Amino acid sequence: MEQMLIVEGGARISGCCRVHRAKNAVLPILAASLLCDSKVVLPDLPDLSDLAVTKQLLSELKMGVTEQCRDLILSPDDLAYSRLDEKLTAKLRASTLFLGPMLARFGKVTFGGSGGCAIGKRPIDLHLYGLAKLGAQIKQEGNAITLSAETGLKGADIRLRYPSVGATENILMAASLAKGRTALSGGAAEPEVLDLVRFLNRCGAKIETDGAGNYQILGQKRLHGCCFFVMPDRIEAATYLAAAAATGGEILLTFDGELALPLIGELFEIMGCRVLSAKGGLALVQRGRLSAPRRLTTLPYPGFPTDLQAVFTTLCTLAKGQTVIRETVFEERFSHLSQLQKMGAEITVCGREAVIFGVKELFGTEITIPDLRAGGGLLVAALAARGESRLSALSYVDRGYDQLYEQLSLCGARIKKMRCEDGKGTSRPDDPCRV
Ligand code: UD1
Repeated sequence: MEQMLIVEGGARISGCCRVHRAKNAVLPILAASLLCDSKVVLPDLPDLSDLAVTKQLLSELKMGVTEQCRDLILSPDDLAYSRLDEKLTAKLRASTLFLGPMLARFGKVTFGGSGGCAIGKRPIDLHLYGLAKLGAQIKQEGNAITLSAETGLKGADIRLRYPSVGATENILMAASLAKGRTALSGGAAEPEVLDLVRFLNRCGAKIETDGAGNYQILGQKRLHGCCFFVMPDRIEAATYLAAAAATGGEILLTFDGELALPLIGELFEIMGCRVLSAKGGLALVQRGRLSAPRRLTTLPYPGFPTDLQAVFTTLCTLAKGQTVIRETVFEERFSHLSQLQKMGAEITVCGREAVIFGVKELFGTEITIPDLRAGGGLLVAALAARGESRLSALSYVDRGYDQLYEQLSLCGARIKKMRCEDGKGTSRPDDPCRV
């Protein structure tokens, strides 16, 4: 049954939150486990619906999937080709990440299409271009695409016209088992892509990179498994920092590994927050009103990340001054703006630009979450708003945030999760959904 979140806004966020391992790094690493011929162990994974679907896809290919608390053990001993279930691939965009590994491991893959958040057209032409360069034959029948490479993949020179994260990951995975050398230029350099490279190299791949989207891959005959600790989630971390910033609070984040937040830390400081970082920890303190950063443009890494556009849009609606936000990565990633306008935000949209005039207060209202990261931004808005907000379509948030409401509640947020019947929240005092 759908659930609804009731947020009584205005409480200062103050406390400590743990940052989980990054969804966008775990998903490609799960797909890459198909390349390995022995066990892969991934300790301490987040509990997210996107991961659950990916594990189901692996099980369909007879990957042994064993979970012990939050640790995941993948055993490829009985791995066998089968056509990917279209109902599953349609549930998430990251199902496209099975193309490269399946092609490399089985010599073929049939793909009925991916799903994910409705934030733009999201074609896969760059994935197909890269895999075709490595020798894949591509056939389209109806909605299904079949890629095959009966005599194996061969290294090639590949230049991407746009640094697509998923296409880069697919090429890196496929080239790791291709014959010979691949030179990939113009690829993505997101920290999650570099985490995938670290994982592949731990499994015996030979990948070198300048960290700026250029890769040299020397294909191997086989890859073995390994135990790998995935990097912390920079998007989750920034969402918690934003919750503290929007409510004039303070927060300490703890995490395992390196948190890649260079530009974002500076941006919080430009907006008037104090940010303190140490090994394994990051703190933010905010007092008084935020200042507008004036201009934010989403770009591939190391630019301002599109996945944080919604969260920073919320902060800008409350900041003193005017900000122009330009979304260049996805065509339709402004669907949260109408919800913020309902809360009293002053926003004018012109194509891919939103002009925001900061207001002193937002007001609680009924909010429908349009996609995962918009959900993070709208929750931050509800926490800061005066009065009660009711947020529906929470399943989007479950795709990418683990224990979000629970951790925020422990930091002082007044949040109740309720079962939603006919669009209205109902709860009993003993309701297990309460947080
Ligand atoms: C990944 C992230 C997502 C993030 C995005 C951009 C995962 C699981 N998801 O998504 O959270 O918002 O990177 O940082 O890691 N494009 C094409 N042709 C292609 C592929 C992409 O035109 O073949 C376009 C897309 O339509 C989009 C842009 O490139 O406009 C960026 O997409 P891409 O970098 O591929 O994002 P994803 O890998 O889907």
